[in-house]
Amino acid sequence: MTKYVMKRSAEMFERAKKSLPGGLNSVARVPPPNVLPHPPYFERGKGARIWDVDGNEYVDYALGFGPLILGHCPPNLVAAVKDVIENRGTTFGICHDLEFEAAEKVIKHLPAVDLVRFSNSGTEAVMIALRLARGYTGKEKIVRFEGAYHGWSDVIHWNTRSPVGAIGLRHAPRLVPGTAGIPEPYGQCLIVQPWNDPDILRKTIKRRAHEIAAIITEPVMCNLGATMPKEGYLQFLRDICTENDIVLIFDEVITAFRLELSGAQGYFGVQPDITTMAKALGGGYPVSAVGGKREIMDLMGQHAITSAGTYNGNVLCLAAVKATIEALEQPGTYERLHALGDRLRKGLEDVIHDAGLPAVAQGVGPVLQVWFQDKPTVDYRDAVTSQSHNIHPLFVRALYKRGVMLNPSQFGVWYISTAHTEQDIDFTIEVAREAIQEVKTQL
Ligand SMILES: Cc1ncc(COP(=O)(O)O)c(C=O)c1O
Repeated sequence: MTKYVMKRSAEMFERAKKSLPGGLNSVARVPPPNVLPHPPYFERGKGARIWDVDGNEYVDYALGFGPLILGHCPPNLVAAVKDVIENRGTTFGICHDLEFEAAEKVIKHLPAVDLVRFSNSGTEAVMIALRLARGYTGKEKIVRFEGAYHGWSDVIHWNTRSPVGAIGLRHAPRLVPGTAGIPEPYGQCLIVQPWNDPDILRKTIKRRAHEIAAIITEPVMCNLGATMPKEGYLQFLRDICTENDIVLIFDEVITAFRLELSGAQGYFGVQPDITTMAKALGGGYPVSAVGGKREIMDLMGQHAITSAGTYNGNVLCLAAVKATIEALEQPGTYERLHALGDRLRKGLEDVIHDAGLPAVAQGVGPVLQVWFQDKPTVDYRDAVTSQSHNIHPLFVRALYKRGVMLNPSQFGVWYISTAHTEQDIDFTIEVAREAIQEVKTQL
């Protein structure tokens, strides 16, 4: 292994700190200090590879925190975007044909979506979804789950990574804002519950259904290190919402166009009332959308509920949506993504077990996370107290040094793109075999 140097990245971070708060544009970009003392700075990416400013080459499983489902600089997407920039413009702030063409593609594939409104980030799409649910039901409270992440807005960024000591009892978690600066009344509109626990939720809904507008969940808790729903749990959520006039929101910001063309709702065969989507939707361009049942979405059509945005549905992003979905529509795309995911999950588990350590590589299709424990994670409390947190940063660091890039957080996920090959996966598994030996010397 050649020596891993990150000199220029370190220098750039020092310079960035003089003009950007903390040197960053998003808190998510700072790695845990036991992974790296500063963020890596990247120069370019191509396909499944990415190069940092010190010339280190990596197989990339971070993929821009998920959007790059086609890898870096996919030719068809670059061509589509170049074409609109050169020949049409980036944004008109007014209507154009790509709006309905992109919407038609989304509606064709997502079974629970009759109408779509585009926006530019997952955070925005979630905000619109919550407003729609409240407007539609005339109720105010939103049920959200411990450890879930649905963007950083005041209305939902609560109890995401709260310390266990602060969140009180499991059956009635205490509300904790996700950051300073969120007024307390926003929290009063939320009810926090443990995920994957039908009994507790059933009791809460029995008492409070009259106040609850919506339940919001990721169908797979990607932001909880790819924690999977228990058998029947999503159908349980569907049924309890239907029985109690509660809107079910699937936050498919990560899973839409990734688990299948039909998203997690197609993969699991459970249809929400409202879906939020982003990331894979635009293949790397800043676009998101909320979609859902006609009678709910039409509240925006009737102007009873407002959602607006200068850049909503801009030409550039919708050209990206159309080109990305067209690429994903190629036969065999999802069979391949799932096969690569299965190969990587099995390979990672095998090499860690061979080293005598516990491991679960959990997730589905091209989304996964490695936990250094015997059983899959179930919910936030069990995930946050896992011994895995002692090993995971060491593993990530050892992978970086050997040319494998991934989201450094134990609560994040590895992503696989259509640009990854079996050779990339096999290289990664061999790298992991070496990396875990190094980790063992540090335990
Ligand atoms: C499930 C989920 N919802 C919402 C968001 C917020 O999306 P954005 O970062 O585009 O605002 C994220 C971001 O990672 C997410 O994973």
